[in-house]
Amino acid sequence: MNQKVTFFLELIENRIKNERIKKTPFNLYKPILYTLENGGKRIRPLLFLLTIDALGNKKDIDKFIDCALILEFFHNSTLIHDDIMDEAETRRNKATVYKKWGRDIAILAGDVLLLTAFKFFHKIPKNILCKILNDFIDVTIKVCEGQQLDLDYQKIKSIKIKQYYKMIRLKTAELLAFSLKFAGLLLNKELSTIKTLYKIGINLGLAFQIQDDYLDVYGNEEKFGKKIGNDIICAKKNFLYVKALSCLNEKDKFEFIKLYHDNDPSKVSKIVSIYNNINLNQLVIQELSFLKQKILKDFEILSKKYNVITLKEFCLSLMDRDK
Ligand code: IPE
Ligand code: IPE
Ligand code: MG
Ligand code: MG
Ligand code: MG
Repeated sequence: MNQKVTFFLELIENRIKNERIKKTPFNLYKPILYTLENGGKRIRPLLFLLTIDALGNKKDIDKFIDCALILEFFHNSTLIHDDIMDEAETRRNKATVYKKWGRDIAILAGDVLLLTAFKFFHKIPKNILCKILNDFIDVTIKVCEGQQLDLDYQKIKSIKIKQYYKMIRLKTAELLAFSLKFAGLLLNKELSTIKTLYKIGINLGLAFQIQDDYLDVYGNEEKFGKKIGNDIICAKKNFLYVKALSCLNEKDKFEFIKLYHDNDPSKVSKIVSIYNNINLNQLVIQELSFLKQKILKDFEILSKKYNVITLKEFCLSLMDRDK
């Protein structure tokens, strides 16, 4: 890992450790601590700090750490709730909050984590607080909208790539985009830079979710930290499903759809062999490289004014992650 990324990651981890999370009621705060201290890649706060750094703020990075935590706390709250919705058993190689403590506690723990994120806003200068708070609230609502589409799509069988893209933009890409844009807003950068940062974040977020969908089938369970095949079990309309629909002939498509919506978990290996036969792997690579080109073009624009090398490298490294 790049030295700067390692340094920022350490700052984030230390700041999280030093945050004094309340202790009681024990049954509420235990799962919150469990979630926060259970690792995770911390990519949203990292993207934020790397953007702050790229835009020229080198010295007083410490003063931005609390803002970085807004992103990580909110993200963790969405994961706790997402695991209830997806009936997920493991995350980061441990039992999910919902599996370990039950639904009721998971709902409350997620809520408290979300609300705690707002506590860090007091560090934002008053003249831009309103704008940033407003934009952040918009993002939190968009994530819920994306999650609702994700649920709605579980019940429908035919889905177009455009619908899929809309869902993943909302549930995943908007928060990644905000992580970069947030830095631009805080440093009072020109509108064109903020727009470019946002665009990079959206395309990166789309790629990130496509990669997540891919790893849900082809990942290594130990590395990925989540149960492989869970999207198939839940009949999620992820990238692989959408692409399979466009590759199969009418007869095979009919059988594939029927099997995908079966309640029997043994369908997973059958679905995977269909995916293997139509070489979905290649379509994932193609889509990711298409998004990568867009990202690189926008970095080209930013590089005329800013030193974006480390930020760019970090973004590209996320595109072929295995965890
Ligand atoms: C998981 O996010 C949810 C998605 C948007 C796919 P991450 O893969 O960033 O999760 P952690 O925080 O590293 O565990
Ligand atoms: C979740 O997408 C996105 C959010 C948490 C908002 P997934 O449901 O694919 O995420 P994982 O795979 O459980 O991490
Ligand atoms: Mg999930
Ligand atoms: Mg989900
Ligand atoms: Mg997933």
